[in-house]
Amino acid sequence: MNKPNRFAWLAGGDAQCVNPPDPPPGAPWRLVLLGAPGVGKGTQAELLCDRLHACHLSTGDILRAAGDPGRCNRSPALEAALQSMREGKLVPDATILELVGERGRCLRCCGGWVLDGFPRTVAQAEALQALLDREGVGLDSVFNYELPISEIVTRLGGRRVCTECKAVYHVTRQPPKQPGICDRCGKRLRRREDDRPEAIRTRMRIYEENTGPLLEYYGKKGLLVSIPAHGNPNEIYARTWICGRSVHAGITPPEGAANAASEAGGSAPEPRAQPS
Ligand code: AP5
Repeated sequence: MNKPNRFAWLAGGDAQCVNPPDPPPGAPWRLVLLGAPGVGKGTQAELLCDRLHACHLSTGDILRAAGDPGRCNRSPALEAALQSMREGKLVPDATILELVGERGRCLRCCGGWVLDGFPRTVAQAEALQALLDREGVGLDSVFNYELPISEIVTRLGGRRVCTECKAVYHVTRQPPKQPGICDRCGKRLRRREDDRPEAIRTRMRIYEENTGPLLEYYGKKGLLVSIPAHGNPNEIYARTWICGRSVHAGITPPEGAANAASEAGGSAPEPRAQPS
């Protein structure tokens, strides 16, 4: 089965997805992934979506698509957002909420979805809840990936992304077969503008300022599940899958379940071959 190309999410407006997902046999999964910049949310979102045939809804990807050279008609608000992003700062809530709000139909996607990078503030989380209510869909769970900052900085420093299909690699830990070239589409890989050391520092500071209140918000709603993000992507995926399956079956994973399950070699269906 071909991957949904996410046109409706990336381009907004009237854009239609090529290969929209088919409804899954059971209820679709709807997840939010939280965690520091570079912890591996995008990598896990891709693995999950490949398995579930769900859609990877990343607000960072909307902004990067809008910033692609050749895209014209950028509003002053969007230009300002792209500048904030380059500097590692958060884009104002109003801009992000406008972008997500006009893509509300993606939240009704019959294949389900994994939200990555949104919400990032309590105001965004409240707005997401209002949007979900408006669209008549629920949120299954919020997975928070946890890893020491020093390890995350190593991941970010080696990240390379495809200029065309946005696949993510790491120069040593998830290298492409041919250096600098995307395995998936053959286009060039590049470093993200916000992966420069000063932008990384800003992103980490802002993350630490916002994360406590956001975790508290979802903790109070009983939706928050912590997932240790050490190990390779497939090990983290196995933990995520096990938590996702129990949440989906209506069972709250007990504290530490994610770790225990993968240490014990818990069963997760094959993710696709790396790199993501
Ligand atoms: P966004 O695109 O959301 O970026 P981010 O949250 O900073 O997260 P990253 O994409 O950097 O990291 P990731 O956790 O997805 O890690 P990845 O899987 O790539 O946002 C970018 C910017 O847009 C923000 O700074 C802000 O300006 C703006 N923005 C977006 N949404 C916004 C919002 N809602 N509100 C306001 N502003 C918003 O992995 C990282 C690297 O590690 C890769 O090289 C990967 O190959 C490697 N890797 C992954 N897993 C492993 C592993 N297990 N072991 C070793 N290496 C690994």
